[in-house]
Amino acid sequence: MSASAGPQPGVGILGAGRAGTALARALQRAGIPAWIASTRSPTSMRFHLAQYAPRATAVAAEQIGQQTGGSGPGRPDGLSIVVLMVPQEDLDSVDPGWLDGVLLVDVTNRWEDEPLPDWFEDSLQAGLSSSEAIAARFPGSTVVKTLNHLSHWDLDGGGQRVQPRLQPVSGDPANMGLELGGAADSAPPTSSHTVPHQRRALGIASDDGPAASRVAHLIDALGFDPVVLPSLRAGVILEPGGPVFNRSWTAGELADLAEHSAAGPSADGTAQDR
Ligand SMILES: NC(=O)c1ccc[n+]([C@@H]2O[C@H](COP(=O)([O-])OP(=O)(O)OC[C@H]3O[C@@H](n4cnc5c(N)ncnc54)[C@H](OP(=O)(O)O)[C@@H]3O)[C@@H](O)[C@H]2O)c1
Repeated sequence: MSASAGPQPGVGILGAGRAGTALARALQRAGIPAWIASTRSPTSMRFHLAQYAPRATAVAAEQIGQQTGGSGPGRPDGLSIVVLMVPQEDLDSVDPGWLDGVLLVDVTNRWEDEPLPDWFEDSLQAGLSSSEAIAARFPGSTVVKTLNHLSHWDLDGGGQRVQPRLQPVSGDPANMGLELGGAADSAPPTSSHTVPHQRRALGIASDDGPAASRVAHLIDALGFDPVVLPSLRAGVILEPGGPVFNRSWTAGELADLAEHSAAGPSADGTAQDR
């Protein structure tokens, strides 16, 4: 597939590594066109994409915002979606101008002692969440944090839980002793039954309601239950070390975690310390 001139429907992906190509495959399964960019030219990506994301269309990184239907700032419902899947240590090489006027989905995480650009380190030191730091770096973009708290393997597996969960049902002695799913349950079950078709939930954090809503529809189309958090800052619970990261929660469980998290905004709307 080759890129055509002018904005096209679909989702842009900046970064064609493990996470970026897994998202391209997930979009393909959902019937959504994917436009993908890396540090390489579209031509030099062709063998890589043929293997890892055969239906994605390669574009140049600096064109990813325009290619996917960017409509300029001030029209959140019409913004094109570009998903940021570049390692945080490489973000100095991403020109914020490429992403002006787009809805930028921040999927990045910091891994252990990964070195960060100075602006990123300074923002974290100043108490910002990682996505608030990204938002400050990309002021022309409307930033939404999501998809960062599951692995590329889980993205490939879709939203349905791999293991059926077991829930207690009183008065059913035939199933005594089965384990409960979910970390929140501590009491031993009296009995249980399998809960079918539970979808894994993904948190969505943004300071822009319409943008969060659009991304929620995308997350649903990818096979996950969206849980919209109250602010970009509240997305710290999705980061490595947080209670949501790399764990499979239902929408109800994730909403409970968000509600009881100290990381959310205070009642008067001001941010709390990390
Ligand atoms: N892997 C996961 O399971 C996972 C899950 C959740 C979140 N994440 C986050 O997603 C991000 C990417 O992780 P990954 O595992 O996919 O990394 P990766 O496999 O190392 O891939 C990184 C990709 O970013 C591209 N890239 C680097 N600088 C770029 C630039 N200036 N413009 C365009 N593309 C650029 C690279 O291009 P080249 O191919 O040309 O080198 C490569 O395709 C990280 O922040 C990670 O924490 C990863």
